[in-house]
Amino acid sequence: SNTPVNVTVTGAAGQIGYALLFRIASGQLLGPDTPVKLRLLEIPQGVKAAEGTAMELDDCAFPLLAGIDIFDEPNAGFEGANVALLVGARPRTAGMERGDLLSANGGIFKPQGAAINAGAADDIRVLVVGNPANTNALIAQQHAPDVPAERFTAMTRLDHNRALSQLAKKAGVPVAEITRLTIWGNHSATQYPDIFHAEIAGRPASDVVADQAWLEGDFIPTVAKRGAAIIAARGASSAASAANAAVDHVFDWVNGTPEGDWTSAGIVSDGSYGVPEGLISSFPVRSVGGRWEIVQGLDVDEFSRARIDASVAELVEERDAVRELGLI
Ligand code: NAI
Repeated sequence: SNTPVNVTVTGAAGQIGYALLFRIASGQLLGPDTPVKLRLLEIPQGVKAAEGTAMELDDCAFPLLAGIDIFDEPNAGFEGANVALLVGARPRTAGMERGDLLSANGGIFKPQGAAINAGAADDIRVLVVGNPANTNALIAQQHAPDVPAERFTAMTRLDHNRALSQLAKKAGVPVAEITRLTIWGNHSATQYPDIFHAEIAGRPASDVVADQAWLEGDFIPTVAKRGAAIIAARGASSAASAANAAVDHVFDWVNGTPEGDWTSAGIVSDGSYGVPEGLISSFPVRSVGGRWEIVQGLDVDEFSRARIDASVAELVEERDAVRELGLI
């Protein structure tokens, strides 16, 4: 349709914001037939930099960009939003305890959830990128009781893409030959990248790459600790790759996942695979008719079970901690 879609981006003046906004405005988020109106939400200190980015967006003369508005207050920022990318968050700084981190982010995601509840469009889709992404998504979701819980998602697509790339390198194949990879659990170092249902050009990945030592000693830790490796190398955290993953997530959510394949996303658990109902955990997911569905019926062996359980236990701890802090 030619009605512009309202896309709210929080943390618009940050480094992911800078990598993300141009991709959205060029049509990569929703497709080449959908005009977008950008709603940039920042804290007051970030507004001036967001205005600078808006000037550059103007200067690109993107045919699909139907407007840019800048806000420093969530109720205005989410008014009429069809898609919300919650990128701005409070990073962990030296000496910060987990409770402090969760509280600081609760102070951001609670009012944002309430603002989405109050003013977003009926078809609102939310992707939380800002860390701790799964628990921030849970906080926002809990404060938006009128929005279907399934509309709140957390980003594990960057982990998924990292896993695709590592597996492709090991197998010596293009990434496009790999399907059915899964990230389970939390977007954190406990996440479990699972190759046991993955296929490489239609053959089981675990037959093509029959190397348990590599899987345990290299692949899993490399994917799980990739964020830290990027910071060590670049002196700043992943930005363009994070923005790319956010684009992939929303594009697939709206347009569907390819036939025969699936991807990974943090979505509200319905109890599948023993993940407690209501937690926002990463699962193997397909997008069908504009909705995420958990891929059912996969065998989970002992090796995978232990790793999924460990990551889910961390999600339970985070949920219990934010409950104790009165954030949900
Ligand atoms: P950044 O620090 O460059 O930018 C964050 C921006 O958010 C700043 O401009 C800040 O002013 C803004 N902000 C803070 N509180 C806000 C609020 N209440 N409302 C609106 N804006 C607010 O950070 P960067 O590098 O862009 O990363 C953003 C987040 O994404 C971080 O939490 C980071 O850990 C997370 N991240 C998540 C990934 C994932 O795979 N899920 C991957 C990479 C980063």
